[in-house]
Amino acid sequence: MQKVSVATCAATLLPILLLLCTTTTVHAHNITKILAKHPEFSTFNHYLTATRLAAEINRRQTITVCVVDNAGMADLLSKHLSIYSIKNVLSLHVFVDYFGAKKLHQITDGTATTATMYQATGSAPGTAGFVNITDLPHGKVGFGAQDNGGVLDSFFVKSVEEIPYNISIIQISKTLSSPEAEAPVAPPSLNLTTILNKQGCKSFGDLLASSGALQTFEDNLDGGLTVFCPPDDVLSQFMPRYKNLSKADQQSLGLFHGFPVYNSMQMLKANNGLMNTLATDGAKKFDLTIQNDGEDVTLKTKVVTATISGTIMDEEPLAVYKIDKVLLPRELFKSAPESDAPAPAPKSSKSKTKKKSGSKEAPAPSDEEDAYAPDDDVADQTASDNGAVGLDGGRLGPVVLSVFVAVTLSFLRV
Ligand SMILES: *[C@@H]1O[C@H](CO)[C@@H](O)[C@H](O)[C@H]1NC(C)=O
Ligand SMILES: *[C@@H]1O[C@H](CO)[C@@H](O)[C@H](O)[C@H]1NC(C)=O
Ligand SMILES: *[C@@H]1O[C@H](CO)[C@@H](O)[C@H](O)[C@H]1NC(C)=O
Ligand SMILES: *[C@@H]1O[C@H](CO)[C@@H](O)[C@H](O)[C@H]1NC(C)=O
Ligand SMILES: *[C@@H]1O[C@H](CO)[C@@H](O)[C@H](O)[C@H]1NC(C)=O
Repeated sequence: MQKVSVATCAATLLPILLLLCTTTTVHAHNITKILAKHPEFSTFNHYLTATRLAAEINRRQTITVCVVDNAGMADLLSKHLSIYSIKNVLSLHVFVDYFGAKKLHQITDGTATTATMYQATGSAPGTAGFVNITDLPHGKVGFGAQDNGGVLDSFFVKSVEEIPYNISIIQISKTLSSPEAEAPVAPPSLNLTTILNKQGCKSFGDLLASSGALQTFEDNLDGGLTVFCPPDDVLSQFMPRYKNLSKADQQSLGLFHGFPVYNSMQMLKANNGLMNTLATDGAKKFDLTIQNDGEDVTLKTKVVTATISGTIMDEEPLAVYKIDKVLLPRELFKSAPESDAPAPAPKSSKSKTKKKSGSKEAPAPSDEEDAYAPDDDVADQTASDNGAVGLDGGRLGPVVLSVFVAVTLSFLRV
């Protein structure tokens, strides 16, 4: 009974916590939302999101975005630039200053240059990140990239939306051409170890390195990679069982935590079904099932169901997520017969019988803090055994809390 009330409490608190988190990150503007009202700019809007420029634009206080319509974007796309070059080109269309329609027609001496977000990235050589704005006869305003040989190749069409002096969105006749921005760029160099180290996944990074799995992850970085990291507190409880594996199985377990393709959160939410992992190799299936569970994305093996608990990085070609349990492939661990069934509402009598069947699979929890729960049933039992201890201040806290939430969710659903 006591456990139910704690679980209910967690379920009540969670939405409040989430609300607090979202209300503290108020943005002055949302470019995606503003442009969504104008379908003629949908391609431009799509690429602002795909290149992550949208987030950058929303973060800035004073900004001007020069949009082009879908026909203008079609011209740009016909150049078949990589997404990184498209990002450079579009960032040239974002001025780090405010230009409303009125200001455009009142430029001192009729001509000016303005810095863009391309310049702000530091990757634009020389003056390439600047745009020339010139007030022309008959009320025309011309725009040209500074590295475009003095050619003003695009013109002001209309003001789309102005929120002085936060954001001005103006339409120009075509994309600005810039040899530097359109030049091929090497994909940003990614160091998986560094990324993991910074995000509470250092132990997992160490495990990949020591098992020899890291090389395979790195080899897949360029072509696309999705990594699922059990954070340090989750992994530490699993280490006794990990050390028990042979060297080859340790490597397979590490490889099991990666997909050889990039999967954004959106893609994961859209793709229910079987996925191969980096450990998949001919007869060795080492696959798992992605399944959406409300807003959550779960990864199911026959042995365990893990839930994605956070995004560390999600930028093509690399996505790194945190998960709440170590992924146990059925090739290395005995399957739990009940793992597919929803965790039942906690009952102390049932918990006793489960303890018996559970201990066949799991190491006897002699040191309860170190006992790792390989499936929902055992997790359930671990929670009821030492939930109070874990909640007050052990490293089990987050795990126990997430188990409580999971249990509560399935409890509410039944
Ligand atoms: C402009 O941004 C500031 C700071 O975020 C905000 O307080 C203000 O309300 C915004 N102005 C408008 C008109 O939205
Ligand atoms: C901006 O608006 C889009 C579309 O309405 C929404 O999906 C996105 O979450 C919003 N971004 C922020 C930072 O609020
Ligand atoms: C902008 O370009 C025009 C046309 O090439 C040129 O006459 C003008 O001097 C340039 N303005 C600045 C500030 O460089
Ligand atoms: C990543 O960074 C670590 C140190 O931060 C370094 O030891 C390692 O060689 C780097 N890996 C690659 C592939 O560059
Ligand atoms: C290690 O493996 C042995 C033999 O399979 C088993 O008896 C023992 O319980 C395992 N220990 C852990 C911590 O998994």
